[in-house]
Amino acid sequence: MKWEEALGSEHILVTGGAGYIGSHTTQLLLDQGYQVTVVDNLSTGHAWSVGDAELIQCDLREPVVLAGALRKKSFTGIIHFAGLSQVGESIAQPLSYFDNNVTGSLNLIDYAAQAGIDQFVFSSSAAVYGNPRAAVIDETHVIAPINPYGMSKAMVETMLAESARANDLRAIALRYFNAAGAMPSCGLGEAHDPETHLIPNVLKSLLLAADASPGDAYLKVFGDDYETPDGTCIRDYVHVTDLAQAHVSALRYVKDTAGAQAVNLGTGRGHSVLEIIDTCQQVTGKDIAHIIEPRRAGDPAVLVADNKLAGELLDWRPQRTLTDIVSDAWQWHQMSS
Ligand SMILES: NC(=O)c1ccc[n+]([C@@H]2O[C@H](COP(=O)([O-])OP(=O)(O)OC[C@H]3O[C@@H](n4cnc5c(N)ncnc54)[C@H](O)[C@@H]3O)[C@@H](O)[C@H]2O)c1
Repeated sequence: MKWEEALGSEHILVTGGAGYIGSHTTQLLLDQGYQVTVVDNLSTGHAWSVGDAELIQCDLREPVVLAGALRKKSFTGIIHFAGLSQVGESIAQPLSYFDNNVTGSLNLIDYAAQAGIDQFVFSSSAAVYGNPRAAVIDETHVIAPINPYGMSKAMVETMLAESARANDLRAIALRYFNAAGAMPSCGLGEAHDPETHLIPNVLKSLLLAADASPGDAYLKVFGDDYETPDGTCIRDYVHVTDLAQAHVSALRYVKDTAGAQAVNLGTGRGHSVLEIIDTCQQVTGKDIAHIIEPRRAGDPAVLVADNKLAGELLDWRPQRTLTDIVSDAWQWHQMSS
């Protein structure tokens, strides 16, 4: 279905909809009858990934251009994914992160106020919590980001909360843990360059090693002396399709609920780096050679979401397992390589 013909009465503006999580959410919105317009500067996203949604190539840091491009449109809500998201890069280039993530969001929140759009869903991150003070963290955990990326997300959460108080904006910040997986049936997957996430890097190392002799390509595991059962770091991996579903639920939530809210999106279950490698070996049937490197600075041992609030407020419960995540990602990486 073309976007012009979409039957849904609700028209959603999706910023960053050409990126990884944004493109999967755009596809799900289209499947559910929403009309979708994507705004993206294509700095890390891909025009091919927006499917039948309308794509407007525009940078959120150019408010006049943005307002001009959206002049004749009327949106019921906004889902805001656009931003830069690499922690290491944010430490090297902090101003670029504050410019993209904070200035861009400020312009968008201002556009929403001017255009009378009061439903706003924001991609936040577990990075707002900084060093976790418990293995499983809920939304009452102190907000203490330790890098410019996490700080930029916390600043936008503050802007949304204050706009909700002052201007009746209805906002929800979704604090994702580790997004992973793909929607291979729709030709969608994780296409970051450079890739900094574990699962796509494990799978890509297999494809790169296909022509090499066994053991030539080594995956680096940073630290095996953490206080975890196998000594490697534990993270909470959530399937991107489950995340996309949470955004549709969040849209319904802000439609009915005043104020600003922050909600964790994770499975509540952690997996170690060695467990990920093991699952990738089982799914692909291939051996994955890895070497142990020293710990990286700033990597907590365990980072797992308490996701009860998402269940209560959004009626959201992740459906897909780690094996589903790796199987879908592997299928997509093979298709796209
Ligand atoms: N991937 C994860 O595991 C994860 C975890 C926590 C939070 N997040 C957040 O979720 C959001 C989406 O993440 P992703 O992995 O899909 O990232 P992504 O890089 O694939 O997508 C971001 C999109 O935003 C666009 N963009 C960036 N700056 C822009 C600007 N100034 N104007 C217009 N478009 C711009 C990019 O071109 C890209 O299409 C990000 O805000 C990220 O910080 C992601």
